[in-house]
Amino acid sequence: YGTQTVNENGHLTIGGVDVSELASQYGTPVMIYDTELFKERARAFKDTFEKKEIRAQVAYASKAFSSIAIYQLAEQQGLSLDVVSGGELYTAVAAGFPRERIHFHGNNKSREEIVYAFEENIGCIVIDNFLEIDMIKEIADERKQTMNVLVRVTPGIEAHTHDYITTGQEDSKFGFDLKNGQTDQAFLALHDHGYIKFLGMHCHIGSQIFETDAFKFAAEVLMERMVEWRKNYQFICPVLNLGGGFGIRYTEEDTPLEPAIYVEEMADVVKEMAEECEYPIPEVWIEPGRSLVGDAGTTIYSAGSTKVVPGVRTYVAVDGGMSDNIRPALYDAHYSSALANRMNEPHDQQWTVAGKCCESGDKLIEKAYLPKVETGDLLAVFCTGAYTYSMASNYNRLPRPAVVFVEKGQHQLVVRRETYEDIVKLDLPLQSDEKENF
Ligand code: LLP
Repeated sequence: YGTQTVNENGHLTIGGVDVSELASQYGTPVMIYDTELFKERARAFKDTFEKKEIRAQVAYASKAFSSIAIYQLAEQQGLSLDVVSGGELYTAVAAGFPRERIHFHGNNKSREEIVYAFEENIGCIVIDNFLEIDMIKEIADERKQTMNVLVRVTPGIEAHTHDYITTGQEDSKFGFDLKNGQTDQAFLALHDHGYIKFLGMHCHIGSQIFETDAFKFAAEVLMERMVEWRKNYQFICPVLNLGGGFGIRYTEEDTPLEPAIYVEEMADVVKEMAEECEYPIPEVWIEPGRSLVGDAGTTIYSAGSTKVVPGVRTYVAVDGGMSDNIRPALYDAHYSSALANRMNEPHDQQWTVAGKCCESGDKLIEKAYLPKVETGDLLAVFCTGAYTYSMASNYNRLPRPAVVFVEKGQHQLVVRRETYEDIVKLDLPLQSDEKENF
């Protein structure tokens, strides 16, 4: 992945830095981000649109990994930012992210969150439901402030890894149904409101998708509706947001395309349909999360205890687990790994990598091929940059790991490791010995 190599000591290096040095400096578990790979991915998305001569915004879907430093890196790459909560918006504000490039998502935004978005005068709110339409109109009127909006729609496409099916009415908690009049109703409620600037539609058809057909179909379905709106309401949408979901390669089982290919094919559909219908080519927005940060991230753990279950398996336990990466336990997600301090030894023994949480299901990798693991060895689990730290918890009161950026032989801490003091910082002591007093 990215800039990874093996140095003369047989150690894994990322961004030109020996990970065993990072492990001794920052401790383990530590999450390492190859920022050059992040930049390369961002550039590939942006270049694709430029090549196609389509105006675009590539918004980093920051639920994949949210921190001040990654937002600043995204900003430097000219990306926009997709936030889904007041907390992510606050992080963006703390990072000094340009407000006009922030897009606010979510299926249950609170009034306070919407007011916060107005206060920060962000670039766009992606409206998800009728309650939000009412709240946004009210808040805009009260504040006499203009806000750009998109409406999120469910186009009735369910994308899976290898095929996609279309359903008459998609059962999803997100967005307005495109097929039963809800979307048109939302459009009519918004398009001529004085303080609302209606930009168009948004859809997001799923995540970790490998094939391009579902994306192309989504682009087609939304463009058709835009053409219909021009005919029925003489309204032209300046923006079309096609979401994220581009798949990445966690293990050899995964067969994604180059991330930019998805964009290229979607862009072709938009362009062709626009030409065919003589519709002005909309500005296309996309929202990749996983494909920007997923394979840029590697987690380094220290190996601890081992256990042989005769005839069944051998466990090696590491100093993290489902608290820093819940994806194997939650989604049965698969990862690949290597022994970072002995990369050149044959990785031919089968191990089960377990975490240290008090749950039998806390296994990171069922079948990891590694050399004979000794206590203190460093285990690298690859492709852990997306939906790991952002979904991490303090289960069993484990402190969350440190996060380090590496590039061109340099490293910098961007999220410090949690301490035990951090762990109890929200706790308040019992005020009285006598229970009946509270
Ligand atoms: N836009 C919207 C509206 C989304 O809901 C999502 C992801 C994205 C963009 C980014 O999708 P991506 O490019 O990262 O696939 N926790 C799960 C993934 C949940 C995805 C939620 N929405 C996982 O660990 O696999």
